[in-house]
Order: sequence, then C-alpha cells, then structure tokens
Amino acid sequence: MKFIAKTLFGLERVLAEELLILGASDVTQANRAVLFSGNKELLYRVNYCSRCALSVLVLVSDFRIRSKDDLYTDAMRIDWSAFMSADQTFSVVPVVNSELFDHTGFPGLVVKDAVADYFRKKAGKRPSVSTADPDIQINVHISHENVTISLDSSVIPLFKRGYRAEQGEAPLNEVLAAGILMISGWDGACSLTDPMCGSGTIPIEAGLLACNIPPGKFRQFFGFSRWIGYDDELFKRLKNDCESQIRKSRVIISGSDISETAVNQARANIEKAGLADQIKVEIADFKDIKPIEKNGYILMNPPYGQRLKPDDIDQLYNMIGTSLKHNCAGNKAWIITSGREYLKNIGLKTSSKHTLYNGALECVLAGYELYEGTRKITHDLKSS
Ligand SMILES: C[S@@+](CC[C@H](N)C(=O)[O-])C[C@H]1O[C@@H](n2cnc3c(N)ncnc32)[C@H](O)[C@@H]1O
Repeated sequence: MKFIAKTLFGLERVLAEELLILGASDVTQANRAVLFSGNKELLYRVNYCSRCALSVLVLVSDFRIRSKDDLYTDAMRIDWSAFMSADQTFSVVPVVNSELFDHTGFPGLVVKDAVADYFRKKAGKRPSVSTADPDIQINVHISHENVTISLDSSVIPLFKRGYRAEQGEAPLNEVLAAGILMISGWDGACSLTDPMCGSGTIPIEAGLLACNIPPGKFRQFFGFSRWIGYDDELFKRLKNDCESQIRKSRVIISGSDISETAVNQARANIEKAGLADQIKVEIADFKDIKPIEKNGYILMNPPYGQRLKPDDIDQLYNMIGTSLKHNCAGNKAWIITSGREYLKNIGLKTSSKHTLYNGALECVLAGYELYEGTRKITHDLKSS
C-alpha cells in the first residue's frame, strides 16, 4: 500500500526520519507531506505512534486529466467497492490548485457523483453523503493536471491527541511542539524546561517522548476503524505492544509561566496526559528564574505581540536574552515565535534557524548555544 503522511511545513525531514524508525519503506519527502509504503499494520502504527504526522492518507489512484470531464471518467474507473460499500456514508474533501477548475469545490462534487454513480450501476444503490461524520473520507488533491485520490485513515487530525483538558490562550499545535523537540535534537536523555509553558504543550510532548508514550494513546477514534477490512485484533495487539514499552522519564521535565491561569491549565493537561508524576510546573517570571542546571534544554514559545505593545514586546525579548545569558549558561535554548523581528532583541547569536508554520502562522525556530564563562556566544553555524 502507498501512503501519504501530511504534516506542517518545515517538519517533513523529522517526519521522514520518524517514519523510517516506525518501519516505513520508499520514504520520500514532499511539500508538507511524506510519501511512504507499507502494510495495514504500518498504517495503524503510524496513526497511533507518529508525533509529527497530521493525518495519514492511503493512495487510491493518481492520474492526469486534460479536462473537467476526465475527472469524472477516471474517478468512475476506480474500483470503489474495494474500499467501501453502498451502505456506508462518505464525504469528499477537495484540495485544488488547477487552471481546469474555477471553483475549488466543484471537483469534490464531480468525484462525489462518480462514487455515487459507480455504486448505483454496480449495486443498484448509492451510498449517502455525510459531511459531519462520514464512514469514509475521500481526499481529492488536484495540482494543475495531476489528480491524487486518497482515503483519510485518521479523519480527526492527529494533533488532536485527546489530552487537552484546557485550551490556553495561544497553544502550540501539538504536532509542531513534537516537531520542534525533534529538530532541537532533544531525545529525553537530559533535562528540559519551558519557562513560558502556557497550557503545557511543550513539556507534555516532551513527557510523552521521554516516557515512550504513543501520542495516539488518548484518542478514541481513528478513521480506519470504520473501513471494510478493519482488523481490530491487529490494532489491539499493536496498542498492547506499544503500551508495554512505556517507561518512566529518566530526566527532569518542567515548565513555568508568569500566569497562574496558564499554570493551572498546564497542570490539568499534564494530569489528563497521565504525566503528573513526571512533569512539574510552577508560577514564575522568567526574569526572576534561578540559575538552572547545565547540559539541559530550554524550549520556549514567548508571546509575539498580538496583545502586547511594540515597546513591551521589545523589552520582553530583551529580558529573555539577558536571562538566558546570565541564568542558563551551559544549556541549549530554542525559541519558537511568529515574531521573527523581535528575535534581534534577544541579543544572542543563533546557532540554527528554521522556518515552520503553526497552522497558517509563519514562525521561526531559533537555536542558541549558551556557552559558559568567557567564551563568546557562538556564531551562526547554519540556517535554513
Ligand atoms: C504563546 S504563550 C505559550 C503557549 C504555550 N506554548 C502553549 O502551548 O500553551 C506565551 C506564554 O508566555 C507567558 N509569559 C509571558 N511573559 C512571561 C514572563 N515574563 N515569564 C514567564 N512567562 C511569561 C504567558 O503567560 C503565556 O502563557
């Protein structure tokens, strides 16, 4: 089977590495996606264990079209009965960038008609459409003349882990939080703290990683469970196998925030993720933090000015730089923000820079090596 794992822009490399570890073959990076091959067991495993995938699609067919009519004709040629029955409900989600279509919704209607007509001809009965809760979600991706038709095996996006009891004001997407942990190189072997933890997304994703907890553990639903040929025994075995490998974290993972409300939200989320004995959070202003132990990681997602005045935000980033320099020497720090222009106020040279997206919001992830003593804060090593 051929699969397409979708992800956020900038996480393609870490997702590809993760898929290889999970047992994928023919792994190829694309824009906001990674293509790979494998069997049904791998499909379940990636849905359950991937930290960086947003959804996993199963390729049904890909072809070229020269006209709108070709889309209907080619979609009718697909053996839909291999994927669904006339008694199931379905929906079609189109993603279209093509000169052949004026309205992006139109190709979705064409494929919907093709599926309905296929079953009417074959079984004398057409499956019903359900946009709210379909049994089968068909994705139609059209780029110019190239059409890819696939089935969404996740349906509810995989960043919806199921551990969020409290939302927070500007929470990071869970997939993005896991992705920046992977880009940073933190692997659970040394301590990690997030001194602006908000609702706790970074410490929780770090806790899941360090304890080898599959991110799908808290989810109640995966799209593939309604497919014909769904193997419940196989999925149960896989879950048991993954859960038998859960361990305690060997290192300290912590968070703090200036806001009491945020700390309470983080605590509620940590509790729901079953990590209350693994992650400690407290109320603290980053400017007052005590010097922290060396050889650890600091990951943070400071405010970026949607609610703060420009002067205040300049001062905040200035304070972050001063605190990192004076209280965090001997550690690696990573800052993710959509306020790229504020990073200059930190006043430290970056060791690495990555452009990422938090949903539609462009962000930069900047890494810093906080050397001790007289050694000067380091030079630009690489940027991407
Ligand atoms: C963008 S939010 C972080 C969101 C978080 N990553 C999440 O997923 O929920 C920024 C956080 O920085 C906190 N903050 C702002 N100034 C701070 C300071 N001086 N010290 C500590 N935390 C601060 C805010 O209270 C807010 O919760």
